[in-house]
Amino acid sequence: MKKTEYIAVKPSQIHLLEKTAFYYRTKEGAFNLYKESARRLDKERIEEEKFPDLYIAAKDKDAALAELSSNLNMALAAGIASKGLAEVKNALCRIVKEALTPHQVKMLDALPETVEILVEGYSKDPKSVEYLTRMAGNSSLIIEHTVNVMALILQYCFFHRLEENKIKQLLLCGLLHDVGTARIDKSILDAHRKLTDQEFKIYAGHAVLGHDLIITETDFDVSVATVALEHHERIDGSGYPHGTAKITADSRLIGIIDCYEPLTYRDKNFRKAKKPYDSLSLIKEEVKAGRFDKETFKNFTSCLIK
Ligand SMILES: [Fe+2]
Ligand SMILES: [Fe+2]
Repeated sequence: MKKTEYIAVKPSQIHLLEKTAFYYRTKEGAFNLYKESARRLDKERIEEEKFPDLYIAAKDKDAALAELSSNLNMALAAGIASKGLAEVKNALCRIVKEALTPHQVKMLDALPETVEILVEGYSKDPKSVEYLTRMAGNSSLIIEHTVNVMALILQYCFFHRLEENKIKQLLLCGLLHDVGTARIDKSILDAHRKLTDQEFKIYAGHAVLGHDLIITETDFDVSVATVALEHHERIDGSGYPHGTAKITADSRLIGIIDCYEPLTYRDKNFRKAKKPYDSLSLIKEEVKAGRFDKETFKNFTSCLIK
């Protein structure tokens, strides 16, 4: 069979595909059977990612998608039911990790489907969103940040009963707002100290890098790229990268959530992680100073304090 008759499988989906046969590619470019259908891969092997790049046959695509969707929902539902939040969080982390890995950027096309599965899974049990937002993390990794930002977006969307398409669009914005950091040196991203001016300048470049990446490499709505560009802009023009005061409603919302998340969820730059109320007070100061939009802040606060 030709190469086009096989589709690469994302690592995050491998544990969810039991009924689907997997193939691997030999050095000569042939596709050989790796796992028969109806056989699950070793749990350990999956966790340690001990497997080659795996493919499914194109003819199995529809069946595989159906299996994926039902298994992901079941995994989320089971995680929620047993309060095995680590499981749910790991699933989210894997999805985000893939989205932020540069060489897998071509796979971004599959993201709307993943987001769809997430929304479907969560809307069945709104409580799960609350659990998700309670998950605290100590890692300063951008992955953790993104997962937490997405959880907060979900909470906001369900509280304000936004319609499904809007939820999916905002989740994509949240998932990709920092995608530009995938192109920034890890030593700067993981520096547990105040960045030097020069380092900060490089870090600040993630907004433009992310915007350009989304525009050139995906077909997503332009609003997703706009949020990547504007989430560090402030409505008084004091933000970066361009000091633009006129920013979209999505950027205003995600800008606030983006700021709230690191304050609440982890210690950064020697600061102690704060309680939600204290974090909101800090952001309120920014609102008073005219940097964040008052109305957006009010709407965000109401979804947290119930
Ligand atoms: Fe950012
Ligand atoms: Fe961010």
